[in-house]
Amino acid sequence: MTPEQASRIARTAEYVRAEMRGDSSGHDWWHVHRVRNLAVRLAEREQADAYIVELAALLHDISDYKRNGGDHERGPWLAAGWIRGLGEAEGVAAAVAEIIAGVSFAGAGVPPKPLSLEGQVVQDADRLDAIGAIGVARAFAFGGHAGELMHEPGRPPQPHASAEAYLNRDSTTINHFYEKLLLLKDRLNTPGARQIAQHRHEFLEAFLAEFLAEWDASDVARFR
Ligand code: ADP
Ligand code: NI
Repeated sequence: MTPEQASRIARTAEYVRAEMRGDSSGHDWWHVHRVRNLAVRLAEREQADAYIVELAALLHDISDYKRNGGDHERGPWLAAGWIRGLGEAEGVAAAVAEIIAGVSFAGAGVPPKPLSLEGQVVQDADRLDAIGAIGVARAFAFGGHAGELMHEPGRPPQPHASAEAYLNRDSTTINHFYEKLLLLKDRLNTPGARQIAQHRHEFLEAFLAEFLAEWDASDVARFR
């Protein structure tokens, strides 16, 4: 990476940090920080363009459609405008905008958009941050923010067949595990991410088993 590129990355990080400070819905700056670190490591393994990956990881949630009233264009548009404002080439702005337009999970039944290698890496990093211990914590943080119940026995998980159905979902946090989190390990693009996901996925399963056992007090039987 050239010194000029490193300085553009640093300015982008400052911009995103200022924009995202204070979000408690699971999309705070620290989510971006984790996705950026994961993405940079995955990019090395995949020999993806590290500069594009880092820019896209930093900007990927700058205006997510799920929190801006359903506008799918605004995030890619803001990111491209920011990158042009850095004095960067149009090709870089376009590549990052295209990644941001395709990266988001839009419902279990919605076919994924084709992504560049750099986009695949950023999407994997974003998905890895939705599973494992961090994934559990984010799900309950989001659930509290959205006012949903932790769990409601008898309420089945929904297979969301469109981005609109996913956007307007009325879920419980435990159902979200079945509607998204447990599906992610089989929807990763790169071998490096699949390796990391294995352990994080097993952690989700162990957490769910424990949660449901405590829910019915069936863990009591272990201590008789
Ligand atoms: P992403 O950054 O992958 O696009 P989302 O905007 O879908 O993520 O969600 C932000 C975080 O909140 C993620 O960790 C996600 O799994 C979690 N989340 C999303 N919807 C729900 C829900 N209905 N209940 C609990 N957690 C949720
Ligand atoms: Ni994200």
